[in-house]
Amino acid sequence: MSLQLGRTEFGDPSNKGKVLSREEASELFNSWVLNPRLQLHMKQVAALMKAWAGEKLSLDEETQWRWEMAGLLHDADWDQWPDQHCKKIIEELERRQADPEIIRAIASHGHAHFGVEPETEMDKMLYAFDELSGLIHAYSLMRPNGYEGMDVKGVKKRLKEKTFAANVSREDIADACNRAGIDQDELIAFIVQRQGRVR
Ligand SMILES: [Fe+2]
Ligand SMILES: [Fe+2]
Repeated sequence: MSLQLGRTEFGDPSNKGKVLSREEASELFNSWVLNPRLQLHMKQVAALMKAWAGEKLSLDEETQWRWEMAGLLHDADWDQWPDQHCKKIIEELERRQADPEIIRAIASHGHAHFGVEPETEMDKMLYAFDELSGLIHAYSLMRPNGYEGMDVKGVKKRLKEKTFAANVSREDIADACNRAGIDQDELIAFIVQRQGRVR
């Protein structure tokens, strides 16, 4: 089964700046994503994207919501239509005339699977947060106090253990940090500090 999208252009340029309202996005989220674990993952990535846009890049609130929306919906079709991941959500967002920037970021979050290279800053950060966020969350679940007292060193130890969260590609994490031009430790610290608050 191939998830290759077979194209690298997404959305209509004339829809630049157009977003779903929060209500529309959460309605889509709740009707498509039924698995609570996947819901949490998507909310975590959404919160990280928003925080990066706001705190690191000092982007305005409208732009922060575009970043957050890309995170919130990036796996929207994974629960019910895994064989159409991420084609289905892309087509849905195109139909709803969402900003091409958001659609492109979603299309490039797994470039090995979908055949779309992360290019923009939003693309690269979604790709970077996606896998690292999952590994860090898996780590929190095996710690008695979850995120409390978690440090970068502990996460790096887990990264080196190939059997821990074995489905998380260490190569993708290193590749994502490289592409984004971000130090891996810095990114881990950013996630550790914020992710525990997401419910
Ligand atoms: Fe995905
Ligand atoms: Fe994901």
